[in-house]
Amino acid sequence: MHILVIGSGAREHAIVKSLLRDPNVKKVSCAPGNAGISQDADVFEVDIKNKKSVSELAVLLQVDLVVVGPEAALAAGVFDAVAERGIACFGPSARAAQLESSKSFAKDVMNSANVATAESITCLNIDDVKLALTKFGAPFVIKDDGLAAGKGVVVTDNLAEAIDHATKCFTDNESKVVVEEFLDGPEVSLFCISDGKKVISLAPAQDYKRVFDNNQGPNTGGMGAYSPLDWAPENIELETIEKIAQPVVDEMNKRGITFKGLLYVGLALTTTGIKVIEFNVRFGDPETQVVLARLETPLSKILYASAIGDLGKLEALKWSTNSVITVVLAAKNYPGTPVVGNEIAGLAQASEIEGVQILHAATAFNGDKIVSNGGRVLSVTATGPDLTIARDRAYKALKNIQLNGSHYRSDIGLVKQ
Ligand code: AMP
Ligand code: GLY
Repeated sequence: MHILVIGSGAREHAIVKSLLRDPNVKKVSCAPGNAGISQDADVFEVDIKNKKSVSELAVLLQVDLVVVGPEAALAAGVFDAVAERGIACFGPSARAAQLESSKSFAKDVMNSANVATAESITCLNIDDVKLALTKFGAPFVIKDDGLAAGKGVVVTDNLAEAIDHATKCFTDNESKVVVEEFLDGPEVSLFCISDGKKVISLAPAQDYKRVFDNNQGPNTGGMGAYSPLDWAPENIELETIEKIAQPVVDEMNKRGITFKGLLYVGLALTTTGIKVIEFNVRFGDPETQVVLARLETPLSKILYASAIGDLGKLEALKWSTNSVITVVLAAKNYPGTPVVGNEIAGLAQASEIEGVQILHAATAFNGDKIVSNGGRVLSVTATGPDLTIARDRAYKALKNIQLNGSHYRSDIGLVKQ
């Protein structure tokens, strides 16, 4: 198979690497990719939100399957345009992608499907927000209704900060704001895959959303992850499929919307059972980096079966028992406006450490030098027979990498979220 991966982050680098290990895959291309991906696959310039350009590239390259990484491409209808050209595509349609692109739509589907989630109120103006905040009390949870690259959510005990965030959401996007009940308990990310009928799941992982150690500072797109989770309940995958993912896929069908691709279920393990914190409709970043490193079943088989509606024929997935951890190296100022264009040194030494793989997130070439090109720059991923060894390897690799002003969390894999 020739597979085209759309996107340019460490998630896409992990997908590319996983496909390159896959005996069913002859060639992997990526658009637009980044400096690291271009060392592994052919890369092509494309505007991922331009569905026509993406579908034309897929036709030109004569690929057998397109795998879409970013939510923005899915929300822009890339799946729909590629499928229209008769090419298999892993991902949901733009209508189905509303499960991520509109938090109020997701809440409505969950309510109809009797899926446990935080109680919420969708607000159209700041007075409604104030009423909702009073109703739920602290800690306050305020979410921008639309896509915000992981930064649209504020969880705070400070009422003024809560109101400020809601005001900013209304000013920036003229959108709706969702205020919801705070869910206590550890978080788990579980990727479920559907072909529009059946649902299977990948292995659970934990993501670290806040920028600083001990879960301090603002939310980011994700600062690190690990898998497996030795503390997660054994039946978490089955329970999530039966109580959450399958009912959601069924409810979408009732609404005349086929959900194919990946349903990322962000779970809170609360004292009153598992509840949904959020849905995304694509691979999570950085969880993908650790989940795919443990997957032994060829990835193309899963993605293709989802795309063509054939998951029922897929045998049970095989997983390595190794632990995998990834730590994100972020540019100076991230998650604010990151400083870009600085040289990254020490990559070769870092990748020589046993079990380590350096996945590129926001990198570019400047001549023959690799430079930073965005907020989350690298995803330093390490595998080991247990979490302690995997952690040691990842942090040893990070000590070898130099990028001016960069920062990373030192407690990935140590504290529960
Ligand atoms: P989201 O973008 O919806 O995943 O939210 C980002 C992060 O905010 C989550 O991973 C949680 O850590 C936190 N969060 C979101 N919603 C809630 C909630 N209802 N209760 C507690 N924490 C939440
Ligand atoms: N890791 C969170 C996300 O991908 O949205």
